[in-house]
Amino acid sequence: MDILVSPSILASDFSDLAGELGRISTADYAHVDVMDNHFVPNLTLGLPVVERLVQVSPVPIDTHLMIEDPDRWAPGFAEAGAASVTFHAEAAQAPVRLARELRGLGARAGMALRPATPVEPFVDLLPELDMLLVMTVEPGFGGQSFLDATLPKIRRTRQAITEAGLDVWVQVDGGISAETVERAAEAGANVFVAGSAVYGAEDAATAIDELRQRARD
Ligand code: DX5
Ligand code: ZN
Repeated sequence: MDILVSPSILASDFSDLAGELGRISTADYAHVDVMDNHFVPNLTLGLPVVERLVQVSPVPIDTHLMIEDPDRWAPGFAEAGAASVTFHAEAAQAPVRLARELRGLGARAGMALRPATPVEPFVDLLPELDMLLVMTVEPGFGGQSFLDATLPKIRRTRQAITEAGLDVWVQVDGGISAETVERAAEAGANVFVAGSAVYGAEDAATAIDELRQRARD
């Protein structure tokens, strides 16, 4: 299974986003957290900024939409050229229709689950998705501690995907570090988002390498 690292620019210097993307040119993706101050109690950036990030980023953009009404807003991110667009299951009205629309626009379709949202009601949707994001912290802020209580859900998600014979990526996001990445990988995750662990490191490329290595071991 591919092991992929997607550093979150939420932990980067917002006054120099192009420069900060340059620091992670060895990553597989750049994770961009879009928050609307309604779905989560924080506000980050929106479509006009993502449109420019797509143009200047050395790696494909992986958008994580922590917003209400993704049915209305998510396709715009695919149209802007985001390689991957992830909406929250708790916010989507018609997730199947939305995932199909995202794929039709050429993006990978992802769906995210808050820590308290079970995966079981969504197993039938897996064929419509390219990625399932299991949040390993409560969405809204960087720098929180990895929730070990989410490990069984990562495991059940991977099992359901394997049983269905599908090739759906399992992404984890929140508190991923050199210390926690192995537990998440062992449970079945293969795409690792890391904000503080990459941007807080002296050398981002070394931090990315280390996450990849430890996830593989
Ligand atoms: C939190 C965001 C994360 C965040 C992760 O809601 O979805 O992507 O940037 O930050 P760390 O890696 O610092 O926990
Ligand atoms: Zn995120």
